[in-house]
Amino acid sequence: MSRSNAPCRHLLAALATAFLTAHAASAPGNPSAADAVPDPVALGRSVASFCANCHGAAGISKYPDVPNLAGQNPAYLLRQVDAFASGKRQSEFMNGLMKVLSSAERQGLAAYYATLNVVPTNTHPGPGVAEGARAFAKICARCHGDDALGDDEHPRLAGQQAEYLRINMQRYYRPTKVRFYAPMTAAMSQLGQDNMEAVVQYLSSLNTH
Ligand code: HEC
Ligand code: HEC
Repeated sequence: MSRSNAPCRHLLAALATAFLTAHAASAPGNPSAADAVPDPVALGRSVASFCANCHGAAGISKYPDVPNLAGQNPAYLLRQVDAFASGKRQSEFMNGLMKVLSSAERQGLAAYYATLNVVPTNTHPGPGVAEGARAFAKICARCHGDDALGDDEHPRLAGQQAEYLRINMQRYYRPTKVRFYAPMTAAMSQLGQDNMEAVVQYLSSLNTH
C-alpha cells in the first residue's frame, strides 16, 4: 500500500460500517422485500448503490487500490464475493460486507456489473506499454484471453485500476493467506518482478469492450 492510502483507509472503514448499518436496516427480516422476486439486474443495481461508495457509481472505482467491477465476468465476480464471505480470500473491508448479502443479492450484483462498460482511468500510461503487451501475450493471454477480457474461469484485466493490479500481482508473486492461486504464482515468477510494471501499465490503459 502506498503512503497516500492512509487517509483513504479511514474513509473506507467508515463506509464499510455505514454499509453494514444501512443493510441491516433494509434487507433481511423485511417480509415485503423477501416476498418480492425482482429481476436480478434490478436487484443488483439497487444493492450496488452501497458498493458505489468504494467501487464507483458505474462500477468504475474512485480509489486506485479498489477494483473496477464494471464489465467483470459474472461467474468470476460471484466466486470472489463468495470467497470473501467464507474468508477464503481476505480483505479487511470486503469480508464483513459480503457475509450480509443474500444469495439472490450476490447473483443480482454479478449480473448487474456485467452490464456496465469499463472506461480505463489510466489514460496516460507510463513507459513500457509495448513490452507489457508482449509479456502479456506470451505468458498471460492463454488464460486471461488475447484482449484480457477473461471468461468464466479468469478475471477480466483490461482497464483495471493500476494500483489494484500491482497489489494483487505482488500477492500472487509472494503468496500469503490473503489470496492464493498456485498457477498465478507460477505466471508471476515467469514474468519476474522487473517486468510487472510494464504489464500493469499495459493492462490498466487497455481500452477494449
Ligand atoms: C468500504 C469500501 C468497499 C465497499 C463499500 C465495497 N467494497 Fe468491494 N472491495 C473493496 C476493496 C478495498 C477491494 C480490494 C480487496 C483486495 O485488495 O483484495 C474490493 C474488492 C471487491 C471484489 C473483487 C474484485 C476482483 O476483481 O477480484 C469484488 C467482487 C467486490 N469488491 C464486490 C463488492 C460489492 C458487490 C460491494 C457492495 C455489496 C462491495 N464490493 C462494496 C472495498 C469495498
Ligand atoms: C494458468 C492460468 C493463468 C495464467 C497463465 C495467468 N493467470 Fe492471472 N489469474 C488466473 C486465475 C484463475 C485468476 C483468479 C484466481 C483467484 O480466484 O484468485 C487470476 C487472477 C489474476 C489477477 C487478479 C485479478 C482481479 O481482478 O483480482 C491478476 C491481476 C492477474 N491474474 C494477472 C495475470 C498476469 C499479469 C498474468 C501473466 C503474467 C497472469 N495473470 C497469468 C489465471 C491465470
